[in-house]
Amino acid sequence: MRQTIVAGNWKMNASKEMVNTLIMGVLSGMDTVKARVIVCPPFPYLSQAEALATHSQLQIGAQNLSPNAAGAFTGEVNAEMIKDFGVTYVIVGHSERRTLYGESDEIVAEKVRAALENDLTPLLCVGELLAQREAGNTEAVVAQQINAVIKRVGVEAFKNIIIAYEPVWAIGTGVVATPKQAQDTHAFIRNLLTEHDTNIAQGVPILYGGSMNPDNAQELIGCEDIDGGLVGGASLKAHDFLRICRAG
Ligand code: PGA
Repeated sequence: MRQTIVAGNWKMNASKEMVNTLIMGVLSGMDTVKARVIVCPPFPYLSQAEALATHSQLQIGAQNLSPNAAGAFTGEVNAEMIKDFGVTYVIVGHSERRTLYGESDEIVAEKVRAALENDLTPLLCVGELLAQREAGNTEAVVAQQINAVIKRVGVEAFKNIIIAYEPVWAIGTGVVATPKQAQDTHAFIRNLLTEHDTNIAQGVPILYGGSMNPDNAQELIGCEDIDGGLVGGASLKAHDFLRICRAG
């Protein structure tokens, strides 16, 4: 039985006051939550978030990392720095990074490697563009994204990876994938891993992301191969986020 995991991706939204209000709000409802809950604030707020969440079940993740170790990489943040704040998760390969910042499947795979080498759990995002879905290429796109990571770090590494299937057309649009669309792709991802190793495929958490909200979360997370959610917009309101956390 896989534990439900709900992760909040705050994207580029935060202030000291907001971090305080949001985390305190989430913490106030955590006693009725069975899911593993992770919030991912922007880098400058990781320290504040970590301090607020100490001695609670709430876990903290970063939104990105450099594939490189220390050195002349202006503006970059490496895995060791993230770990320095007691952070244990990192989002890798979000579609906004892939499309806006040109992160290829190979760069994403390098970032997964860097995270794993530093004992950070990558939340590996995969998903197709609308045109790719309409052309019937969803499975081919997702397979290519996953296979690039398998090629770099091996299938064993998926013991320590959380996958998030995020159809790009559903992110921030209010157009959520139907439970069937999501479940079909989640099952496809699990089958792809089954071809390598059944136990790893059965154990890997696969979260859904893309316009998940308190009203649709239960039906999505109720699907056999959907193990939770990666939540953007709805993670910015403690009340809504907690309702999603209780949906599992
Ligand atoms: P959304 O974002 O919930 O606002 O659609 C999800 C994500 O980008 O992870």
